Amino acid sequence: MTNTLRQAEGNYVVGERFWDRENDLALFAKRIDEGAHLLLVAQRRMGKTSLMREAARRLENRYICIFVDLQQSRSPADAMAELSVATRPHGTLWRKTKGAFANVLKNIAGVIDDVEVGEVRVRLRAGLNAGNWAAKGDELFGVLAASERPVLLLLDEVPILVNNILKGEDRRMTPERRARTDEFLSWLRRNSLEHQGHIRIVVSGSIGLEPILRQAKLSATINNFAPFELKPWDEDASIGCLEALANEYGVCFQEGAATEMVRRLGCCIPHHVQMFFSRVYARCFRTRKMDFSASEVEEVYRTEMLSIRGHAELTHYEERLEGVLGREVFPLALEMLTEAAVTGSLTREVILALQKDYAFEGQSVVDVQKEILWVLEHDGYLKPSPQGHVFVSPLVRDWWQARHGAFHTPRLARKES
Ligand SMILES: Nc1ncnc2c1ncn2[C@@H]1O[C@H](COP(=O)(O)OP(=O)(O)OP(=O)(O)O)[C@@H](O)[C@H]1O
Ligand SMILES: [Mg+2]
Repeated sequence: MTNTLRQAEGNYVVGERFWDRENDLALFAKRIDEGAHLLLVAQRRMGKTSLMREAARRLENRYICIFVDLQQSRSPADAMAELSVATRPHGTLWRKTKGAFANVLKNIAGVIDDVEVGEVRVRLRAGLNAGNWAAKGDELFGVLAASERPVLLLLDEVPILVNNILKGEDRRMTPERRARTDEFLSWLRRNSLEHQGHIRIVVSGSIGLEPILRQAKLSATINNFAPFELKPWDEDASIGCLEALANEYGVCFQEGAATEMVRRLGCCIPHHVQMFFSRVYARCFRTRKMDFSASEVEEVYRTEMLSIRGHAELTHYEERLEGVLGREVFPLALEMLTEAAVTGSLTREVILALQKDYAFEGQSVVDVQKEILWVLEHDGYLKPSPQGHVFVSPLVRDWWQARHGAFHTPRLARKES
């Protein structure tokens, strides 16, 4: 392994910026070689997108790897447009895709290779609709399955798409939306089964898919996708990453400094390791002192990692959580998390006390709380402990407390409780 590493740029990392994960990549490749469809799951910022991109890079001599980001897709038709555009870098596949979509692309079919990707996407979206996406999608899968090499189809942000289909702009689940979601997932399932062995599909996203499907009672639609879990880095990988970054940027860690950073983080989510290093580097650079000692770790953690810019990261967590849980339920989830952040754990007594404060249409508070806890556990916010539910990541807990703690009186300390 190299002993230098450049900092991440943009969202994901590949190639020389990608650190470790050798065992994960080997197991991932093995499962793909066996022909499995995978559901790649992990807490936020664990490196799911990076793992998919890096796997695609390393497997490209054996598979035609097609990466599709569905973050901007609102409907199955949008997703088909995205999928079609993603074949563009693959000459033969793109030619056949254009053939399959000839009537949709009509007037630009002749000049399409000179047209920008954005324009092609717009045309495809305009021509695809609720009535034709499934048949066009089947054709597209047919094209992929007939390619000379097996296809590895990496679908990122599927849960965002599914959540959009299921709940629309106003974030409400209706029977029609549920039916459309069912139709889309059943279509994906049918194609994944029909082309097994020719096409491997990996599904991932920054929020969990299972909690969303559970709400819609559609979990069975993805049970042919095997879960593949990505864990935080262990101590060795994290220290190795910090030292490689330090080597690259001329930071000189004094005895025990990297170990102390890892201990302070507690849970080494790759993005947080990278963030911590970049704060240390900025400080060294500013003070023109490239030595960094273990005794300075706490200060950088307190003043830099927990600064307002640090916990601005949380906005993303909150938005995604609100998207999954819906606007009515989100305030209760927020309060449960804030209790865990402020008091250290979300105890049974607090859960019971909070039941007096909320009411929901058509659902008991108990059921809503069960659902919330399931989502929070599944998406890696909280984990059970003998004291009650506690944050998985001490950093996320500290962020949460810094952001919401000042406005929160613990439930059992309130006069009315
Ligand atoms: N293998 C890795 N080597 C180095 N840095 C990594 C690695 N994996 C993740 N990171 C760091 O974490 C950041 C987030 O990575 P990535 O976008 O792949 O995570 P994700 O799990 O897809 O996040 P999200 O939950 O937001 O979708 C990267 O920008 C990088 O800083
Ligand atoms: Mg991602």
